[in-house]
Amino acid sequence: MIEAYRSYLPVSDQTPVVTLCEGNTPLIPMPVLAQHIGKDVKVWVKYDGLNPTGSFKDRGMTMAISKAKEAGAEAVICASTGNTSAAAAAYARRGGMRAFVLIPDGYVALGKLAQALLYGAEVLAINGNFDDALTMVQELAKDYPITLVNSVNPYRLEGQKTGAFEIIDAMGDAPHWLCIPVGNAGNITAYWMGFCEYHQQRKCSRLPRMMGFQAAGAAPLVNGHVVRDPQTLATAIRIGNPASWTKAEAVRDASQGEFNAVTDAEILDAYRLLALEGVFCEPASAASVAGLLKVKDQVPAGINIVCVLTGNGLKDPDTAIAHSNNQVKGGLNPDPDILAKAMGF
Ligand code: F0G
Repeated sequence: MIEAYRSYLPVSDQTPVVTLCEGNTPLIPMPVLAQHIGKDVKVWVKYDGLNPTGSFKDRGMTMAISKAKEAGAEAVICASTGNTSAAAAAYARRGGMRAFVLIPDGYVALGKLAQALLYGAEVLAINGNFDDALTMVQELAKDYPITLVNSVNPYRLEGQKTGAFEIIDAMGDAPHWLCIPVGNAGNITAYWMGFCEYHQQRKCSRLPRMMGFQAAGAAPLVNGHVVRDPQTLATAIRIGNPASWTKAEAVRDASQGEFNAVTDAEILDAYRLLALEGVFCEPASAASVAGLLKVKDQVPAGINIVCVLTGNGLKDPDTAIAHSNNQVKGGLNPDPDILAKAMGF
């Protein structure tokens, strides 16, 4: 990814590029979803769950880890609801560094935890939420020789802006609307940076309205105040005090965008709808689509809309199984008549 967009990124010939071939993820047309909106709109999803560790974090992490290596770092640290920890663990090991990750105990999806462990990170679970973990890692990075790789590290956002470049490169222009889930608010900030840079280079004729969606139980940007005890089944965005709060508000204002909240029930409806069109994302990612469906009355006719699907559905198999409308038909003897009957013939 760094090679594809080298001239737009703060790298030099001296930067040792640590990559797992992230980026270049598909922009998938979603005609059934578009029908739910109506008004002749076209809808695509930017399926960033197809990155090497299964989320958009890989775009930021290839940059953050390459720059950390260039600076001679031997260890990195992050707070995470799961995906950042998986990406930090993978890229740090790839770059020959140690990775420490702080997670909120009991609120990280199974696949993400499995990744961090297998990639060899040192995983510390705290009695506290993501916001507490972020405060801790900022203190630790100040006092010890460890590089912080949360999105407060500017190289993270530089890498993540390439998602916007890829959308424009694929569509030939920017979409009219970009719908995106918002947690710590780094990604919405990064996408806007990408759209603005390409606009300045005349690679697109317009800038999108940035439509950010938070889970209703963890919606500080919608409510306008910190949420002390954020709660949502979309654990990736279970965040009450986003680090990029003011930047995200600036993005909303500059793009004439909006922040809106979606309930867990709305997130699950969108999650199932996407899967029935062949796309399996994690619950937090489905917030972008839940949000679009929620504000569909505001959608102008005939526009192009991209929803960012930030993480792969395989990250959180527990939620998929618990909230599928479908079930395994079990206890069947291997007999063609029994099986045909179970199949409804
Ligand atoms: N979607 C997914 C799947 C995420 O993992 C995150 C954030 C977001 C959306 C929100 O992005 O924070 O840039 O606004 N996950 C972080 C983590 C917090 O630790 O993995 P954001």
